[in-house]
Amino acid sequence: MRASRPTAQVIPDAEPDDVVAGLLAPHKRLPCRLLYDARGAELFEQICTLPEYYPTRVEKALLRAHLPAVATAVGAGARIIEPGSGAGEKTRMLLTALERPAVYVPIDVSAAQLAANADALRAEFPRLAVHPVCGDYTQAIDVPDADTAGRTLVFFPGSTIGNFEPDEARRFLARFAVLAGPRGQLLLGADSNADPASLVPAYHDAAGVTAAFDLNILAHLNRSHAATFDLGAFTHRAVWDAARARIEMHLVSTRAQQVEVAGHPIAFAAGEPIVTEHCYKHPAPVLAGLLAETGWTVREVFTEAAGRMRLWLADVAAAPGRA
Ligand code: AVI
Repeated sequence: MRASRPTAQVIPDAEPDDVVAGLLAPHKRLPCRLLYDARGAELFEQICTLPEYYPTRVEKALLRAHLPAVATAVGAGARIIEPGSGAGEKTRMLLTALERPAVYVPIDVSAAQLAANADALRAEFPRLAVHPVCGDYTQAIDVPDADTAGRTLVFFPGSTIGNFEPDEARRFLARFAVLAGPRGQLLLGADSNADPASLVPAYHDAAGVTAAFDLNILAHLNRSHAATFDLGAFTHRAVWDAARARIEMHLVSTRAQQVEVAGHPIAFAAGEPIVTEHCYKHPAPVLAGLLAETGWTVREVFTEAAGRMRLWLADVAAAPGRA
């Protein structure tokens, strides 16, 4: 199937009940996907250019250095599936490095962004068939059948795997193996940094961009959930939890206050936090274990000299009894 437009699959914001339940829980929590409205996406782009936020810079350097080896492993005429917003610089780097990539399947919730990116890629790579799929890759999703003899490569850069709880991460990685098919491959970018001296500034930068990104979730709720958050009454903080190997983003109430969300009163004590995002920095052996458990055989790992970021190139594991 050659889709010139994204297939229609409308993804709702988090259900009001999820939002309210998270805010009424003993430890208040919001779904991190709510960080990414239009303003949040813009702020995230800015975060990626900050001096403190090393993951984007380091991952691009790893791609520059190791894409030739990836291209050799993937071979000619591949189909690339990219869950999450694609068509950025990293996508172009991959498509340029691969030998005659045949099909590109970006999956994203924003139909407008998908269509614009697809048009730009078709213009830049005229021999590439671009089949956008509009949908939420965190849910079961159908993608057009492979119509190339080449392998399928699932491309999941950006350390996004770290924003999911380990059980969710397991589910996605297993789903990616199904999407990739029997000869499929995965190129995954992940961060294993465990040093709070560089991690905390990466998530609480001096210019205040990450703070604005975090606080924007409250502005989003004010619009989407008829909430009454006063953005001046919360501050951003980043907390490293060494035992769980994760950075947590918190919004801390600066005073005792009551906020309405979707008609529900939510009480805050002074100093009480809302957790808005978990960014797991799985140690390399933990990530290797997650891949092995979810149907992947690691073929090669490309590691930054400082030992924080890695690109994992994995093959779909042979099913028992399959040659
Ligand atoms: C999108 N994701 C991989 C980013 C991260 O590093 O976990 C989101 C982010 N949150 C604050 N800064 C960046």
